[in-house]
Amino acid sequence: MAANSNVALVTGASTGIGEATAIRLSREPGTELVLVARREELLRELAASLPCRATYLAADLTEADAPARVRAHVEAEHGRLDLLVNNAGAAWRGGFAESGYADVHRHMELNFDAVVRLTEALLPLLRAAAPSAIVNVASTAGRVARARTGAYSASKFALIGWTDALYAEELEHGVHVGMVLPGFVATEGFPATELREKALTRWIVSKPQTVAEAIYEAGPGGKAERYVPRPYALAAVARILAPRLVRRVLTGGAAADLTTSTAAERAG
Ligand SMILES: NC(=O)c1ccc[n+]([C@@H]2O[C@H](COP(=O)([O-])OP(=O)(O)OC[C@H]3O[C@@H](n4cnc5c(N)ncnc54)[C@H](OP(=O)(O)O)[C@@H]3O)[C@@H](O)[C@H]2O)c1
Repeated sequence: MAANSNVALVTGASTGIGEATAIRLSREPGTELVLVARREELLRELAASLPCRATYLAADLTEADAPARVRAHVEAEHGRLDLLVNNAGAAWRGGFAESGYADVHRHMELNFDAVVRLTEALLPLLRAAAPSAIVNVASTAGRVARARTGAYSASKFALIGWTDALYAEELEHGVHVGMVLPGFVATEGFPATELREKALTRWIVSKPQTVAEAIYEAGPGGKAERYVPRPYALAAVARILAPRLVRRVLTGGAAADLTTSTAAERAG
């Protein structure tokens, strides 16, 4: 570790938002990076291309020994940790009747449990380095749920609730806990192909670099919460203030029709 270095660990750094975040953080003077994901070759290439010192660890974060392996790597290679970006995550589409509990379980295992377990392993290092920061990459799907993405939404709703509590708990220890809630971002795991194909919807798809900037703001920048793009915060507000309207929009009016027809059937 160099003197005055700032060590940042990014999970899911092999592609998409994590890769863009590593590149963004590498521009800050004195940064050292730890890149984590499963595909070692991609991590090696990224580490070699960055303008700062970067080490990498290939790990499946859902495995039982992953948090301890990551912590051992950070301690041996960098000796401290100033920023943890919990970004690794995935979504598999499917309705509950077809995909069942197994699908809910695999979403929770990666998008929630793995984040909690890694944070538990690294929190002592973050407290020791305070002022330090954690950024959890949630999703607007953690505020508003749509059909066929219920398991993904459940994992992100859980992450948001837990992040809010951790923010309050770690304030007194000097560990800032920020959260980023992206909408649609074109990446390997979330290609948003249909949205990008149509001129009418293309504009709502963000770039990983925009999310990376928000992650920087929610970490070293000290912001508690950042939507990407910012107006997506309105969807979260609408879900609370106008739930019937949001249900109508998300079901193409079917929710209202069902309510009306059920009432009509009862009356008949
Ligand atoms: N793109 C969007 O529209 C969008 C919207 C809202 C929120 N998000 C969130 O943003 C985060 C990043 O997603 P992305 O869009 O950048 O998708 P992505 O390009 O598919 O990246 C996902 C990253 O997670 C890593 N990963 C997946 N499973 C892993 C595992 N078991 N262990 C370790 N690493 C694992 C992947 O690397 P390996 O395959 O090499 O392991 C990859 O680096 C996720 O948490 C996602 O939920 C994305």
